[in-house]
Amino acid sequence: MSRLITVDNVAQIMRELGELGVLTTQVRWPDKPLPDNLLYQPYARGWATYSPWLTDPHIRAMVLRMQECGVKTLVDADRAWTLICAYRQTRELPGEVWETGVYQGGSATLVKRLMQESARERDAPPATLRLFDSFAGLPQTTCGLDLHQGGDFADTSLEKVRATVGPEDWIDFRAGWIPATFAGLESAAIRYAHVDVDLYQPILDCCEFIYPRLVPGGMMIFDDYGLPSCPGARAAVDSFFRGRPEAPFPLINGQCLVTRLPGER
Ligand SMILES: C[S@@+](CC[C@H](N)C(=O)[O-])C[C@H]1O[C@@H](n2cnc3c(N)ncnc32)[C@H](O)[C@@H]1O
Repeated sequence: MSRLITVDNVAQIMRELGELGVLTTQVRWPDKPLPDNLLYQPYARGWATYSPWLTDPHIRAMVLRMQECGVKTLVDADRAWTLICAYRQTRELPGEVWETGVYQGGSATLVKRLMQESARERDAPPATLRLFDSFAGLPQTTCGLDLHQGGDFADTSLEKVRATVGPEDWIDFRAGWIPATFAGLESAAIRYAHVDVDLYQPILDCCEFIYPRLVPGGMMIFDDYGLPSCPGARAAVDSFFRGRPEAPFPLINGQCLVTRLPGER
């Protein structure tokens, strides 16, 4: 017999599952460390949790805008919610807002809306939003770990993304290959950086350029960290932060957060 789990019955269902020993009482700790592939587990648990991304007006507006422009985003609603929360945590900080890996402009559209909202609330102009992408798909891979191929996500263009995200003068589209497109931005201070470039080398390049320019409290949000399709992502983030004071904070949906701690580096 199947039962629909709702906010009204979730507590009762969890009690019943607990009595049946289906929840924590049945978790067995393995005798040996698990191989890496077994560490990738589905995160949908089959019971209800608070899911504000299902009704968030910013996410809804992003989805509608994508539909209106005939484009798509690869960032689904719960990941978009992480971007919103990280943005709100950093919105009072000084510094620019960056996205590396824009594709057809979905998450960039979302972040732009958040910046417009903060600007309205503060009655001040928005900070600079910089958007980095080849707008021609992934580069050739150079790391044996990567599973994506050069040329994946090539179904986009700068013109199409500009038409979707918007022409405002505080949005700086940086078309071309990362890290070459970082040139000239050496003195930037960054408060929020969404890194969604899928592959080992560009993720490492983003860490090397962005991290030293993050203001204290500033955040990097890595999209691909825990995805089995992007093993190079975790390798790049982990190798970069090994020996640094910040600890990458993996989320159950595959994203990973790093918050810059205060102090000189
Ligand atoms: C998964 S997509 C980004 C998805 C996007 N954030 C969204 O909302 O749908 C990854 C993007 O990273 C870009 N990319 C990866 N490596 C790059 C590099 N070295 N230089 C420029 N763009 C790169 C690709 O062109 C692609 O558009």
